[in-house]
This record gives sequence, C-alpha cells and structure tokens, in this order.
Amino acid sequence: MRILAIETSCDESAVAVLDEQRGLLAHELWSQVDLHRAFGGVVPELASRDHLRRLLPLLRTALDSAGSRADEIEGVAYTAGPGLVGALLTGAALARSLSYGWQVPAIGIHHLEGHLLAPMLETPVPPFPHVALLVSGGHTMLIEVRGIGDYRMLGQTRDDAAGEAFDKSAKLLGLPYPGGPELSQLAAAGRPERYSLPRPMLDRPGFEFSFSGLKTAVMQAVRAETLSDQGRADLAHALQDAIVATLCAKALRAMEFTGHGALVVAGGVAANRELRARLTREAAALGVQCYFPRLEFCTDNAAMIAVAGLHRLRAHERTGAGIEVRARWPLEELRPPGKT
Ligand code: KG4
Ligand code: ZN
Repeated sequence: MRILAIETSCDESAVAVLDEQRGLLAHELWSQVDLHRAFGGVVPELASRDHLRRLLPLLRTALDSAGSRADEIEGVAYTAGPGLVGALLTGAALARSLSYGWQVPAIGIHHLEGHLLAPMLETPVPPFPHVALLVSGGHTMLIEVRGIGDYRMLGQTRDDAAGEAFDKSAKLLGLPYPGGPELSQLAAAGRPERYSLPRPMLDRPGFEFSFSGLKTAVMQAVRAETLSDQGRADLAHALQDAIVATLCAKALRAMEFTGHGALVVAGGVAANRELRARLTREAAALGVQCYFPRLEFCTDNAAMIAVAGLHRLRAHERTGAGIEVRARWPLEELRPPGKT
C-alpha cells in the first residue's frame, strides 16, 4: 500500500508519501516560524492562511520527489487533532478532497500518535511494550505504549509543557521565537552551578511534571540584575539542566515502575542534544535502550502521520466523509488499528 499524509496542526505545513514496501518516498515541509516570529508566538489565523498557500505546492513537490503518480496513491492520512482548529481544517479539507477526487479512503490521525510512532521510521524499530516520553511545545507526558493504539497515561504536566518552559524562558532572555533550540545553543556556553533552579516535582512520587515555576524563577533572576552575555548563558544552562534532569528522573522512574526495557523519546524537545545524551547514558546504566527519531522527525512533520495512517488504513479504518477536526482529543480514546 502507498499513502499520502498531510500535517497542519500548528505552524508547519507538511506532506509525505510512504510506501509499505519501499518505505518513506518523500517528505516535504514548510515551516512558518519566520511568519510568526514578529509576534513572539503562533498567530492562529495567519497559520491557517499560510497553510492554504503552501499545501498544494508541497503536495506537487512531494509526489514529484517520490516519483509517484497520483493514481498510485491508495489512501490519504491527515492530522485531525489536537491542534489549532483553523490550521487543522486546511489539512483535513485537502485530504478529504483528494480522497473524494482520487476515490481512495481517508483517515484522520491523532497528532500525538504520530509523534509516538515517529521512531518506527528508524532502524532498529522500538519493540512493544515500551515507555514513551513525549515532550513537545504543547505536551509533556509519560505513556506506557503496549502496542499501536494501546496507550496508558502514566503522568503528564500539570501546567506548562517542557517546550513551553524552554520557549517562555528564552523569550525572557531576549531570544527569538521559538526559543527552545536557541536557548539550548546559548546554554552550551553557560557555566554549571552559577545559578541553581528548582527541580520541580522530583520530591513527589508518581510521574507528573510541573514547569511553570521554572519560568518564574528565570523571570526573577532576569529582573534581579542586568545580565551580561555570560550571565544569560549561565542562566540558560541552569534552565536546560533543570528541565533535562527532571525529565530524565521521571522517565527512569517510569522504566523501573513498568519493568520495560525500551524508552522512546519523541516530540520537538526530543531534538535537545543534552536530553538525548543524558537520557541515553542514564538509561543504559539501568539496562534500558533509548529510541529517538532523527532530529527532523522529532519536530512536526508528515512522515510520522504517514506511519500512523498506514497502520490504520491497512487495518481498513476510515474516517467518515465529513471534514471534522478536534482541537482537544485525549490520547487514551484511541484504540488499536481496526478496533475502533
Ligand atoms: O513537536 P513540536 O514541533 O510541536 C508541538 O507539537 O508542540 O515541538 C516544538 C517544541 C518547541 O517548544 C521548541 O522550542 C521545542 O520543541 N524544541 C526544543 C529543541 N528543538 C525544538 N527545545 C529544546 N531544545 C531543542 N533543541
Ligand atoms: Zn507536535
């Protein structure tokens, strides 16, 4: 089976072509970061309009670079939620139109299931069951993944997501949006132990996170003195260290709790090099193997939507003919492919 996938949940427009036998044939992406930078965050209406502008050219490029004719596509997958409603609707409308025009089935995919399955684009593929640490701009969760579509929430953030803590702190340090990658670059020049920031919720049992206090701590440090460039780097280092240490400690706690030997790390913050290095090192000491998608499949992309779509379409799952999306959509509502 060969399918086409579309991702438009936030500020990335993406189209991919995945073939069951030959693997990923194309994945094209247009990032809107430059468009939203002046506003310091994503402006939903601008995001929807830009998706409309970019999607058809991306579709053509994806088919061309896949060397695929439209009549070779046997199904269309699209992100149906969670995300920005207007942005989601642009992708859903295109997917439904292609499905109607090409007379092939369509399937609406949960964006976070896409992130969770992104490591299946790599070799070796992570075994089931495993634990997934899903860390993005909107979510921070530890999930027991018993199989595709069989997800048990172990714990999530009570307030800000890890990516949000990176982005908001980066803004306080005067870095451009989205601040995560910029902050981690600045942190590389920082001296350890110049600042000491709290490690939120580490003293409590369980798998919940809380990152909003860190942003406040950074704000207080920024207001307390005029920071030199070195001081900003030191503070960035302390912030990254606090986030990474907390994520690692809770993820390893989940490994001990479940007894599983594989840990998948997914979502935009999984691109953070410090997190990748520390988690790999600490997990290995416990005999746990870590699985990360390559950097371009950590942040939003259509290849991951194609992976989830292929599994579900192959199991004869289809979404009804309406153009329906969900801004909110609990992951635990999902069922294994074909079982909905
Ligand atoms: O998964 P994603 O592309 O979009 C959402 O679904 O949220 O994640 C984006 C988030 C942003 O908060 C961004 O700052 C963060 O991932 N991020 C990083 C890094 N690369 C992306 N955070 C820390 N270090 C990075 N290298
Ligand atoms: Zn995402």
